[in-house]
Formats: sequence, structure tokens, C-alpha cells
Amino acid sequence: MLSTTHLLDIDDLSVDDVHTVLDRASALKTGADDTRLPRKTLGMIFEKPSTRTRVSFETGMTQLGGHAIFLGPEDIHLGHGEPIKDTSRALSRYVDGIMARLFDHADAEELAAYADVPVINGLTDDAHPCQTLADLLTIRETFGFDDVRVAWVGDGNNVGQSFVLGCALVGIDLVVATPEGYGMSESVLDRAAELGSAPVVAATPEAAVADADVVYTDVFVSMGQEDEREEKLAAFDGYQVNDDLLAHATPETKVMHCLPAHRGEEITDDVVESDRAMVWDQAENRLHAQNGLLVELLDD
Ligand code: CP
Ligand code: NVA
Repeated sequence: MLSTTHLLDIDDLSVDDVHTVLDRASALKTGADDTRLPRKTLGMIFEKPSTRTRVSFETGMTQLGGHAIFLGPEDIHLGHGEPIKDTSRALSRYVDGIMARLFDHADAEELAAYADVPVINGLTDDAHPCQTLADLLTIRETFGFDDVRVAWVGDGNNVGQSFVLGCALVGIDLVVATPEGYGMSESVLDRAAELGSAPVVAATPEAAVADADVVYTDVFVSMGQEDEREEKLAAFDGYQVNDDLLAHATPETKVMHCLPAHRGEEITDDVVESDRAMVWDQAENRLHAQNGLLVELLDD
């Protein structure tokens, strides 16, 4: 039993909740037969494209004995005249949980405010808590949380912001390097400080990765930011995770990326294809981490 009904950002979970979800995820991953959600249905609203989130949630519900319904932008009335609050109340009469990938984080908050069932954020412009759960599972499996040092290099939006909060929750030592104007919001840094550890802000990507066990990056141009593409690529000059940057780390330093990767922009093809990359473990762990979350949130 978790202390929250909804997961809009990772700090809706307590530290104990995070460990509960990760422990459940690990048990399911290592073969616990846990078809705990028979006859349960998850409604999945998508305003943006998705490979991992869509497939991992849908597969996860099947594995747990339930069912998921994909509701893309052209499938439902949301975005075509029906307000969020009406969608939320109607869906709540059918499904046992709602997962939503939306642009505006305030829309996810409104969805949750009117829902009678748990709402899970599957990415907004501000947060990606399901990614963070998978990232924490991946780091815990590989390094544990106590002595690992992680460097975030790149944009300070959704994936980065939830990761900052997740690291603060479990006590991971985090250094961030973000270009001027593209850092994490003050509100996120304040919330991380309240949880016990705001990240150290490095002056340069090279300083951030020195001694890092893991370097984590995300795309420079997020979904919905296509009009800002040239401006952002210019601002992120020098922030690419490539062999030159990793020469400032150690030969053992690993690389994380939430995917999809824009090779040649925030990361090189060589790095994605190298032994440093943990990206496929991260991608797989979306399934296991979310299965843990679904059982903890939806099981009666
Ligand atoms: N990392 C992630 O959320 O991937 P998708 O956009 O493919 O869902
Ligand atoms: N920052 C990226 C993450 C995709 C999973 C985006 O919002 O497009």
C-alpha cells in the first residue's frame, strides 16, 4: 500500500514507497508469478508519440492478468472539444487506472483531481516519474544507491527534473550540467533540497562527469519543442555525450539515456553502441518498474 493515490511526479512517493515499488519490481522481474490484477483495466491516454511507455504499460497489464486500452490523440474526444475533467470522470466509471502522456503538467493535475481511480503520469513537459522508477531500478541493480555518483548532462526538463527528485529521495550523489536557461526549475531544486539533497551544479559538462560512475543525458529537442530546434541546438553546443567528454570520466563510466536517442545531437552513435551504454537495461526496466507500480497502486 503506497502513501499516494496518484503518481504525477516521483516525489508523490515517499522514500519507503520508492523502495516498496522497486522491491516489488525486482521480485516480478526475477519470476514471481504475480498476476495480481485480473479484470483490471488501465486506460492509456497519449497526446504525444511513445514506444517504450506505451508498449511497457500495455505488456505489463497483460503480464499482471489485466488489460490496457490505448487512447491516442485521434481516438478520444480529449483535444477535440471535451474537457479533461469530463474525460477523467467518464473514464473513471470504466477503468481501474489511467496512465496519461500529456504536454501540460497542469492537465495531468486536472485529470487526477477529477479521477476516482489512480492517475499515472507517463510524461508531461515537466516530469517523467515512470522513467525515474526504471532509472532507479537500473542504478540499484548495477551500483546500489550508497556510493554511486551520477552526472546529468543536458536539458533540465521532464526526465532530468524527475531524476533529480528521485536521486534526492534515495540519496544518490548527483551532479548536473545544464546550459544557461535550460536548467531544472527552481521549484524542483527546492523540492530536492527539502527531500535532503539538491544536486551539485557543475560549471561545465567536463567538470560534471569527472569521477562519475554514470553519465545520464536526454534529447536536446523534446517532443513539442520542434520550433525551438535551432535555438536549442546552439545553446547545447558542448553538451553532447561523446568520447571526448567521456575522456574526462573514467574508463568504467557508464552512460544512461531514457531514449529515444537523437544520435549526433545529445549523444553519439559510438557511445550508444559502446559497452558503456546501459540504455537497453533502462528500457527493459520500464516494464518491471511499472509492473511494481501497477501492483502497488491498483491491487485492492
Ligand atoms: N523513455 C520513454 O518514455 O520512451 P517513449 O517516448 O518511447 O515512451
Ligand atoms: N525529454 C524527452 C523525453 C522523451 C521520453 C521529451 O520530452 O521528448
